[in-house]
Amino acid sequence: MSLSETLEASVGGITSAAKQPLLSVDSLTRVYGNRIGCTDVSFDVWPGEVLAIVGESGSGKTTLLNCISSRLTPTCGTVRYRMRDGISAGIYKMAEAERRYLMRTDWGFVHQNPIDGLRMTVSAGANVGERLMAVGNRHYGNIRGAAIEWLERVEIQADRVDDQPRTFSGGMRQRLQIARNLVTEPRLVFMDEPTGGLDVSVQARLLDLLRGLVSDLGLAVVVVTHDLAVARLLSDRMIVMKEGRVIEAGLTDRVLDDPRAPYTQLLVSSILQV
Ligand SMILES: Nc1ncnc2c1ncn2[C@@H]1O[C@H](COP(=O)(O)OP(=O)(O)OP(=O)(O)O)[C@@H](O)[C@H]1O
Ligand SMILES: [Mg+2]
Repeated sequence: MSLSETLEASVGGITSAAKQPLLSVDSLTRVYGNRIGCTDVSFDVWPGEVLAIVGESGSGKTTLLNCISSRLTPTCGTVRYRMRDGISAGIYKMAEAERRYLMRTDWGFVHQNPIDGLRMTVSAGANVGERLMAVGNRHYGNIRGAAIEWLERVEIQADRVDDQPRTFSGGMRQRLQIARNLVTEPRLVFMDEPTGGLDVSVQARLLDLLRGLVSDLGLAVVVVTHDLAVARLLSDRMIVMKEGRVIEAGLTDRVLDDPRAPYTQLLVSSILQV
């Protein structure tokens, strides 16, 4: 452990933890051969905050999200995560088992396409219960009870608990994926275009639901979206990407009401209502 880590660990405690970032991204670059995915990206995510990553198609949003959630190894740069014990650890330096445990418990990942985040051939209840078993729950009745409670929380009727998600609509699948991710009360949830594949009225309801859950649970979220209205509704702060670089960052209201970079100005003015 380095001296700074020892010092951070010794100050520990809830008050100081709240003043420390949960995730610190420093000079992160990912290239694919000679093509840039993202380059020289740095930012922090604070406990309980929703950070949106916005930008046009191909600007590097998914590359960045996958790197900071350890699903993709960056070419260079670091990502540090503050564990529940207050110690900050480099996520690529962790043992594979430790990282996998984090991904099953402390972190959630909501895919744009729910098929990528669900097991389509086991029941809805099992999809939610599985994550509880991963954190050591063994009591069948408790697991089923918690699964039903979460289905209701995401507005899926309890009598669908034994149905497989392949029999669900797109919106229901996405809500199930959200329940599966939130049931373990993660501290940090990554979302890639969570409302992307849905039609507008379904999107609006899902966004409302997400907003309520995020504030009730005090979740920290990093959400990728090309939709500025989604960023406006969900996020406290945002970063704007273009060609793999961050070209603007700030509080969401400030960036959308008073964009400074010409590219952000263009992005904002091309949307009539945000
Ligand atoms: N597996 C890959 N192999 C080669 N190049 C890739 C790969 N994945 C992404 N890229 C390239 O990296 C750049 C960023 O892509 P990325 O998928 O991160 O963009 P994005 O902002 O998520 O786009 P979208 O909004 O369309 O999802 C693009 O130029 C893309 O072609
Ligand atoms: Mg993408």
